[in-house]
Formats: sequence, structure tokens, C-alpha cells
Amino acid sequence: MENDFNPEELIAEIHKGRNFRSMDQQLTRQLIVREMHSSNNRKEIVKNVKSKLYQIASAFRNEKIEDPKLFDSFADQTWQDQEAVKEQCLRLMKNHASTRERMPILEEFYRTIFSNLPPIDSVLDLACGLNPLSIPWMPLEKNFSYEAYDVFQDLMDLINAFFHRFQIHGMATQMNLLENYPRKQAALTLLLKTIPCLEQVDKNAGKKILSQIESKFAVISFPAHSLSGKNKGMPKNYESHFLEICNPDVWEIQKILFPSELVFLIKRK
Ligand SMILES: C[S@@+](CC[C@H](N)C(=O)[O-])C[C@H]1O[C@@H](n2cnc3c(N)ncnc32)[C@H](O)[C@@H]1O
Repeated sequence: MENDFNPEELIAEIHKGRNFRSMDQQLTRQLIVREMHSSNNRKEIVKNVKSKLYQIASAFRNEKIEDPKLFDSFADQTWQDQEAVKEQCLRLMKNHASTRERMPILEEFYRTIFSNLPPIDSVLDLACGLNPLSIPWMPLEKNFSYEAYDVFQDLMDLINAFFHRFQIHGMATQMNLLENYPRKQAALTLLLKTIPCLEQVDKNAGKKILSQIESKFAVISFPAHSLSGKNKGMPKNYESHFLEICNPDVWEIQKILFPSELVFLIKRK
């Protein structure tokens, strides 16, 4: 479709909106260019891009995320003071629906997953939301490293402040995983509850991202109910979808079902 809009102007317009201020520009550009193939109505393009960005990312988070300087107020806490650190992390995790939903099962979630793994000293957390704040629940090796990625810069700033405050060897980086994949290597990759979001933009994105994983172990999960709390047979449907997109020649698959989350722990053959 012929049109003469400048995508950069549309990005600036969309990112003025309170839900999109901190959004990755590359993802917004990708969606604009796609919409421009099917419409030459500027208003319609902006509306459709905003709606897609909201569905796949903004809907999960609070509009305002806490100021990273907040971690200065953790000044008296040390990493050894685990109960106090956990209490603060839980408070912050409430800012993102995905971690908020996991809170009631958090302890059991990571205990069960890690009891099925060898000692892990490095993690890639893809489309992480605020999940890196769950590190105190993960039985990782001493001096572990942790790399986290998501499309929101303000979430990355908060997580980097957390890493810095507790001298965790980690880095949170803004990245659109539909068009990029991290170069860092790790023993374990986490891709929690995100394949359905990526597939709302590109139906092959789930299969593609699974084929890009280089680690020996990965945890891939799906929500067991929608954001509104409806189940609609989701675990069954996601299980058959996952079995279609995960290559059984490459991965050994173990299923673990939690009340709010369907998990596949996959081990490279
Ligand atoms: C359902 S949430 C899951 C968050 C986290 N993995 C968890 O389970 O706690 C999906 C996450 O994917 C992120 N996301 C959506 N599209 C993305 C993309 N193209 N690249 C990177 N992250 C993306 C969203 O910002 C959101 O934080």
C-alpha cells in the first residue's frame, strides 16, 4: 500500500502516550511498518499499533513503575538479610501482572524447577517483566550471572538498580525479541508466559525463538488462565501448541503444571 508517512513521526506520537513512553522503538517501528502495508489511514495505523502494543506488553504492567532510586532505601539491607530482601521484591513484583500472579506459588515454582536441574550458574531471562526480582527464590550457584531482556526501558532500569544494589553480576537490556536475540550464552534460559504475546505479532515467533535457544536447559511456560482470570481450556491448548513448535529431536520435554502456570522444562538431548 502506497503512503508517505514517516514511521519515525508515528513512533514519536505513539510514545507520547502514557502506556508507551518507555517502549522499545524498534518494536513500535516493526508494528507501524506492518500496518502501513494494509492501511494508508494515519489515525487507523496509530490506533492499531497502540492496541497491539497494549495487548502484548503494556496490559501486564502498572503504568508507573517505581523509581530505581528506591533501591537506595534498601541501604541497610544486605543480600544475607534474605527475608527483608524478599519482602521488598514481593512488593515491587506487584507492579507486573505476570509476577503478581506467580507470587502465591513462587516458592514452590522455583524449588520444583531447580530440583529438576543440575547446579545453574548463569541465566538468560527473555521477556523478563519483573521476574529477575524472583532471584532470591532461585537456588543459583554462588557468583551466578543473570541477563534479562524486555521491551520496557523503565523496567530494565529498575532491575539494573536491583542488580547494582546487591552486587549481582547481571545486566538488564531493552530488546525486541521478535527481531533480535541475545548473544550471551547461559546454562539456563527462561521464557516465561511470553510465547503467546510474541505470536500475536508473528504466528511463527514461538517456533523461531525456541530454535534460537542455545543453552542446555530452558524453562518455557504458558499462563493457565487469561489476564481476566478465565481458564477456557488454556493449559490443554497451550500444551498441544507447545508440542507442535518444540523440536523433539533436540529437546527432552518435562511438563510441570502449577495452578496458574503450565511449565515445560526442556533439556538438550
Ligand atoms: C506475559 S509477560 C511475562 C513476563 C515474565 N516473563 C514473567 O513471566 O513474569 C510478557 C512480557 O513480554 C514482554 N514482551 C512482549 N513483546 C516483547 C518483545 N517483542 N520483545 C521482548 N519482550 C516482549 C512484555 O513487555 C512482558 O513483560
